[in-house]
Amino acid sequence: MTHILHRQIDHRYPSAVRGSGIVLRDADGKEYIDASGGAAVSCLGHSHPAVLAAMRAQLDALEYAHTSFFTTPVAEALADDLVAHAPEGIEHVLFVSGGSEAIEAALKLARQCFVERGEPQRRFIIARRQSYHGITLGALAIGGREAHRQKFAPLLIETHHVSPVYEYRERPAEESASDYAERLARELENKISALGSDKVMAFIAETVVGATLGAVPAVPNYFQRVREICDRHGILLILDEVMCGMGRTGTLYACEQEGVRPDMVAIAKGMGGGYAPIGALLISGEIFGSIAEGSGAFAHSHTYMGHPLACAAALAVQQIIRRDDLLANVRRQGAHLARRLGERFGNHPFVGNVRGRGLLQGVELVVDRGSKEPFDPRLKLHARIKREAMTRGLMVYPMGGTADGIRGDHVLLAPPFIADTATVDTIVERLGEAVDAATAPVT
Ligand SMILES: Cc1ncc(COP(=O)(O)O)c(C=O)c1O
Repeated sequence: MTHILHRQIDHRYPSAVRGSGIVLRDADGKEYIDASGGAAVSCLGHSHPAVLAAMRAQLDALEYAHTSFFTTPVAEALADDLVAHAPEGIEHVLFVSGGSEAIEAALKLARQCFVERGEPQRRFIIARRQSYHGITLGALAIGGREAHRQKFAPLLIETHHVSPVYEYRERPAEESASDYAERLARELENKISALGSDKVMAFIAETVVGATLGAVPAVPNYFQRVREICDRHGILLILDEVMCGMGRTGTLYACEQEGVRPDMVAIAKGMGGGYAPIGALLISGEIFGSIAEGSGAFAHSHTYMGHPLACAAALAVQQIIRRDDLLANVRRQGAHLARRLGERFGNHPFVGNVRGRGLLQGVELVVDRGSKEPFDPRLKLHARIKREAMTRGLMVYPMGGTADGIRGDHVLLAPPFIADTATVDTIVERLGEAVDAATAPVT
């Protein structure tokens, strides 16, 4: 009998006791290849000696100092490091302890920024359906995952949603990718007009949609059109790179591949690689200036922001990624993973689409490839695939609701950046067996 309120109360979770590189071991000695980095977190794998050494050194010096009294050398060094490699225009960092906290801070900073600029009427946030921005009330409100939101709907702040970029299901064959981008841009523009362009404060999007759609990138020119529209109406562009950022797609920020300059970027997961809970909100010089020249303080803080141990872990993770040129490996192994997934699932009767960027790849399941009909959600195919994969010693990150928030299933893969070709081959082999086993009762 456990006293923990686990995610699924009736599920018996194996107990993880050791981790090394790309492998986790449970209390029974069974080993699992961590092909999802947990939830796209463990970018360096487990027990990296250099990260552990940096954390031990920080503990020996100072474990904690409250940010209302002190700054610390390690937090300053991490902020310098992040800003030095951040997208153009980003000049400051707010530290938090995870993705949802980074998103909550982004929403409140957007609001405070407009209040300080003398535009207090700006209060609307536009987000996209089938997105995930976190589980706290603000993040849940802007998220577009209906199954998550329904129970809590009466508690959620007003948010407005537009379509995601979801080529596989929503771009008809006769529409070009550029016409599709244009159609989505018009939808955003219409939404802004309907709300009143001087009343909208921010548009928020995952640069590459992670958990809810399963590694879906935008089409070319989409984000550039979004940026133009935001600029024209004085609206802030907030990118959620909690999952797709910090190297996961092959560049440090996914938005580098889109050629856009965000006003704020939320990061977490791969920032600390799972060695400590940490996230951050990266902030443009203009936004910082509005607060600095206004009240002089962002009305938002947490007890553990800038925790020295978490900062030491994140700084070491980011330095090792550069030292070992791991983003080159993300691009190399990402291409290999995409190729192997294509070979294994390209003609699979129940796989409709394989997509992704770098070491963030998704496989979407359908009952019929021609009509793209999703599986009956009551089958919980995604959960079956997870079970079958775990039986075979493979951690992947399957999810339901892909097609419309309720129906549809996909599997997300996000192996550590240290993955090699042989491991990628084993991942695809085991995933193939798991998908075959999970779909066998359906045939
Ligand atoms: C894109 C995105 N944003 C925000 C979050 C929330 O992060 P956290 O679970 O650390 O609160 C997640 C978590 O999966 C995410 O994928």
